[in-house]
Amino acid sequence: DYRNEKYRPQFHFTPPANWMNDPNGMVYFEGEYHLFYQHHPHGTTWGPMHWGHAVSTDLIHWEHLPIAMKPDNNGAIFSGSIVVDWTNSSGLFSEEPGLVAIFTQADQYPDSDRPRQRQSIAYSSDRGRTWSMYENNPVLSNEEITDFRDPKVFWHEQSSHWVMVIAAGDRVQIYVSQDLKSWTCASEFGAKEGSHDGVWECPDLIELPIEGQEETRKWVMIVSIGDDPNLAEGSRTQYFVGQFDGKSFTNEASSDTVLWLDYGRDNYAGVTWSDIQGPNNEKYFIGWMSNWKYANQTPTSTWRSAMTLPRQLLLRDTSAGVRLVQHPVKELLELRRNDESLRWEGQTIHPGYNLLENVKADIYEIIAEFDPGTAEEFGFKLRLSDNEETIVGYRAADRLLFVDRCHSGEAAFHDAFPCSHEVPVELKEGRMKIQIFVDQSSIEIFVNDGETVISDQIFPDTASTGLELYVQGGESNVLSLALHPLKSIYA
Ligand code: FRU
Repeated sequence: DYRNEKYRPQFHFTPPANWMNDPNGMVYFEGEYHLFYQHHPHGTTWGPMHWGHAVSTDLIHWEHLPIAMKPDNNGAIFSGSIVVDWTNSSGLFSEEPGLVAIFTQADQYPDSDRPRQRQSIAYSSDRGRTWSMYENNPVLSNEEITDFRDPKVFWHEQSSHWVMVIAAGDRVQIYVSQDLKSWTCASEFGAKEGSHDGVWECPDLIELPIEGQEETRKWVMIVSIGDDPNLAEGSRTQYFVGQFDGKSFTNEASSDTVLWLDYGRDNYAGVTWSDIQGPNNEKYFIGWMSNWKYANQTPTSTWRSAMTLPRQLLLRDTSAGVRLVQHPVKELLELRRNDESLRWEGQTIHPGYNLLENVKADIYEIIAEFDPGTAEEFGFKLRLSDNEETIVGYRAADRLLFVDRCHSGEAAFHDAFPCSHEVPVELKEGRMKIQIFVDQSSIEIFVNDGETVISDQIFPDTASTGLELYVQGGESNVLSLALHPLKSIYA
């Protein structure tokens, strides 16, 4: 019973049982959003990778389907993507358009221990329910590069060809194809750009409009970087904004600029859904809500890991430059228990007073707008009890938003887990807007309409349901505050 398992997320995607990492093969086809995922079906730690599978019509409620792909004589099934082959460019289908999966197969070079990563394809003519391996797999190898994986494919209309972005050690390589079977290297990106604090993995390349000037579009290259044992942050995701001409991507920022997609510790290997036929070329993103630093040790029981909330990606022209913004998908509004929502307006908060003293909640959404006033620091203590709290605070003088999960609950399973981390956040016309989603084992924070995002796992006791709105060193104004208890997707 998913309702009662300790730490089981109630509105985030989790595998029914056993291990999960990266989201894979996300595609929209015939009214269904598909979510495949890196899966070890025989254990709660990473192992021989399969693709698990689920479908949804709203990105929130998921139907679990049988395992889609399992290791074969070309190796385990690592991360990859799926496209709709609308015109049967692959020749793999007879009439109707079908789905083609492009993914990494991982094994070892014969007579050596050296890992070998090659790209294979598989196809499905029954809406992703069953998959056939292409007979001439693998379709793309590169003996010089050991870490050669996670192909993400899309159709580039202007050039009339398929484009693959793929992680190749310390860079992304871009390949092009007419038929999804035969691939030619067109360019490389990134060996000297952005962060190289870990091996590059799971790239994505998407075109996005700038909010408010829909005719201006730019391209965004998303790149996850693996865990560096010497850095506390572990695995995380960066992005670049620039141009793409069908063959090469150019970064608009200086090469040493590093832009993080998420300032929490638990949003990794995320990419976007392909083939959404929305009027504005909508791009929805989901990430794996864990971190290679401690992913194998998190204190769940029958399953391990969840996905982040699905988010719509857009660009915003900010004073610092064009930046990615993330909006939790609007389907989440359906989860609000509107009859139980609590609202406040125009409240002054002062030290020693807790506006939320009598509130108890475990899974909920908060939307608030603050004027920091004279306070040195203010914020929320969530999933609170006598000995547990997750703090989301703002240090006004330093303009730093932080999450402190040191005492958030079970945290001792790994040295790197208990931590506080911060991100600079500027006020907008003297105000800060904050939206927070709290589930049984996570907290996701969207600041100033999605401009800054923090996603973190927490493992509080089920009885830690208190809330506090605190202020230190002065008084703050809560211009508005709404707390919406949320329904479980298993209700
Ligand atoms: C990222 C990753 C990918 C790889 C997969 C293996 O988390 O390391 O690069 O394909 O996980 O499970």
